[in-house]
Amino acid sequence: MTISNVTKLLQQRDSDAVSRLVDWLKIPSVSTKAEHAKDCRKAAEWAKQQLTLAGFSAELRETGTKEKPGHPIVWATTPGPPAGKGPHVLFYGHYDVQPAEPLELWESPPFEPVIRAADAGPKNKVPGERIVARGAVDDKGQVACFLEAARAWKDATGAVPLKITVLLEGEEESGSVNLDAFVHAHKAELKACDICVISDTGMLGRGQPAITYGVRGLAYTECILHGPNQDLHSGLWGGRVANPITELTKVLAQLWDANRKVTIPGFYDRVRELTATEKAEWKRLPTDAAEALKNIGLPPEADVGEAGFTSVEREWGRPTAEINGIYGGYMSKGAKTVIASHAGAKVSFRLVADQDPAEITEKFRVWLDARTPAGFRWEFINHSGGFPGTVSTESPYLVAANRALERASGTKPYLIKSGGSIPVVGLLKGELGLDTILMGFGLEDDRVHSPNEKFELECFRLGMQAHVLLIDELSRLGK
Ligand code: BES
Ligand code: MN
Ligand code: MN
Repeated sequence: MTISNVTKLLQQRDSDAVSRLVDWLKIPSVSTKAEHAKDCRKAAEWAKQQLTLAGFSAELRETGTKEKPGHPIVWATTPGPPAGKGPHVLFYGHYDVQPAEPLELWESPPFEPVIRAADAGPKNKVPGERIVARGAVDDKGQVACFLEAARAWKDATGAVPLKITVLLEGEEESGSVNLDAFVHAHKAELKACDICVISDTGMLGRGQPAITYGVRGLAYTECILHGPNQDLHSGLWGGRVANPITELTKVLAQLWDANRKVTIPGFYDRVRELTATEKAEWKRLPTDAAEALKNIGLPPEADVGEAGFTSVEREWGRPTAEINGIYGGYMSKGAKTVIASHAGAKVSFRLVADQDPAEITEKFRVWLDARTPAGFRWEFINHSGGFPGTVSTESPYLVAANRALERASGTKPYLIKSGGSIPVVGLLKGELGLDTILMGFGLEDDRVHSPNEKFELECFRLGMQAHVLLIDELSRLGK
C-alpha cells in the first residue's frame, strides 16, 4: 500500500530529518535585525532547496520596495494532479525567528542546535529527546514536518498527490509588514487555493494532539509621552513640572477597571460573546489552570483576569490589553536624580472576532489624546497587527485534518483555540475568503520566544507523520 511505504520511509529517515532540521536551525534568520538580512535570505534559500528536492518548483519572491526591501518569500508549487481533483492547498509557514537575547540565559548557544534528553515528568515517564535552538518549534521545526512529509511522498511514490502552493514568510516575527502587499499582489494565484494549512501552534499538552480552530488578532502601538525639551534636575524642577514617567503610568493604569475590563469606549462593541456550547466544550477539556500557573512559578491565587471568565475563556475567547514594555528616565546602574524629557510604552491588544485592529488602534489613540497631560504631547508608532481568525469546526478540511492527526497519533485530537496570533490567518480570510487549518505540535513548556526554545523529537515525529496523512486525507476530498 502506498501510504505505508511513505510512512515507512519517513521512519527510516528519522535521523536524516533531524540533521536536516539542525542545519536549518544553524542559520540565524532573525527578521527584526537588519544585520541578519543575509541570514534570512540564506534560510529562505535552504527551504527553497528542500522544496525542490520534494519535487516542487520553488523560487524566492522579493517583498517590500527598492528603498525598503523586505525579506524574501519562499514560493513553491507542485505540479499536482489535474485541476479539479481534490482541493488546492496553500501551506504557510515562517522561516524567520525571534531574537535570541538574553544570550546569557541559554544553556547552549541559540544557533548551535543540540539534542538533549527531555525532563521526565508525570506525563512522560520515559524521557524522550528534544532539539534545543532558537526557532526549533517556532517555526522551523514545524515547517520541517511538512517538508519531510512532502519529500517522503515524492521519494516513496514519485510525487506529492495533491496540488500544493507553499508560501514561507520571512517576517512573521517582525509583524509581517510586507505580507499584506504581497498577498494583494499575488491575489490571482492565491485565489486558486481552497484551504490554507499552517503548523505554527501547539497541542493541548504532552500526548494530547490538537487542531486549533482559532487564533486571536493583534493591534500593537508604541506611545511616547513628550514633556520638557530636555532632561531636568529633579530637585530644581520636581514639584514645578509634571514628570512624563509618572503621567504615562497614571494614564496607562486607567486602561483597566476594577473587573479588569478594558476601559476604552467601544472596545468590546464587536466582540462576539462566547456561546454556551463553546463554554461547555472548553470546560470538558482536560486543562488545569493551577497546574499551568505552577509551571511558571505562580500559586493558584494568581489565576486573575477579566472577571466572570475562566482562564481558558480569557485566553481563547476574550480580548486583552497588555503593556509589553515601558521605558523612560535613568535605567542604568546607580542613582541619578532626573526628570526625563519623555517616557514610552509598548501597548498591545489581543483581539477576538469581530474586532478590527485598525479600529482598536484608532480608539486607543483617541482615548490617549483625551488624557494628554497639560502641556505634553503624544507620539505614536504603529507596530503591527492582524485580524483574529476562526474556522468552523465542521469544515470538511478541518475534519480531514482531525482524521489525519487521529491516524498518526492513535488518539482523538482535541479541538482547541489559541491566544497567540498568526496575522496571515485573518489576512487570507479577509482578502480571499480562505479558511486556515492549524495543526500544530508545540508544547506549553517549549519556551517559545524565550531562551532555551525546544521542540520535542516526539512532537517532530508526530508532526511529520500527521502531515503525511494530512496530504493523504486532503487528496481524497472533493474540491
Ligand atoms: N507561532 C506564533 C504564534 C502562536 C504560538 C500561536 C503558539 C499559537 C500558539 C507566532 O510566530 C507568533 O509569535 N506570533 C506573534 C504575532 C506577531 C504579529 C509578532 C504573537 O502571537 O505575538
Ligand atoms: Mn510562529
Ligand atoms: Mn513566534
